[in-house]
Amino acid sequence: MIRPRLGWSLPRVFAHRCGGALAPENTLAGLRIAARLGVRAVEFDVMLSADGSPWLIHDETLERTSNGVGAVCETRDACLRALDAGAYRHAAFTGEPLPSLEAAARLCRQLRLMVNVEIKPAAGFEATTGAVVARCVRELWAGVELPLLSSFSEVALAAAREAAPELPLGSLFERPPADWLARVNRVAALSLHCAAASLDDEVLRSARANGIPVLCYTVNEPQAAAALFARGVMAVFSDRFDCVGEN
Ligand code: G3P
Ligand code: MG
Repeated sequence: MIRPRLGWSLPRVFAHRCGGALAPENTLAGLRIAARLGVRAVEFDVMLSADGSPWLIHDETLERTSNGVGAVCETRDACLRALDAGAYRHAAFTGEPLPSLEAAARLCRQLRLMVNVEIKPAAGFEATTGAVVARCVRELWAGVELPLLSSFSEVALAAAREAAPELPLGSLFERPPADWLARVNRVAALSLHCAAASLDDEVLRSARANGIPVLCYTVNEPQAAAALFARGVMAVFSDRFDCVGEN
């Protein structure tokens, strides 16, 4: 099995949802803050619109993080383009757009941020989302270090693998199931991503034995991060950039 590798070394911390707690989630403002504070890598969530285009958003619906209403997968690009995705967080972020994957890629390249794109399909769109995101990532990051693609959806990961076999993948679980290694191998994933609270030492031991880095979300306390690193975790997704000392 050929496991596509990263062209960059894993950092200790990925800014979660672009800018962690310092900006509205999944926005360009978050990317700028992360870069300004010296973060080397960011994670963000990507979902398809009604037009099948990839946009940065976490929820299947627009209400929590924008002034839009309804399902992302039923909303046209023209409508998403007009939304405010900043004011919900703080008035200072009013006018912050909902970013397309293209806009986020452009800015990440400019700021030299390494990226973990989390494929976040709306229910029923798993395969399409995986394939579209993989093809877009291949195109948008052509000639530079490719992002790491991850997903809770194994259907999305399999579709991404088929659409762009060269991309490094991460298998994402809340709690790794007993057969996690077989699942990681099925899509030739590079890394295992899971909730910090549900990581047990047997999983870590087996990951180490198989050369699979483990990345944990969401870790916001420095002591918790230090304890995970001491156990062998390679990186954490965090809302706090000062969560680890040396990045
Ligand atoms: O990819 C790690 C983490 O972002 C997964 O959880 O819900 O924040 O996307 P969530
Ligand atoms: Mg995420």
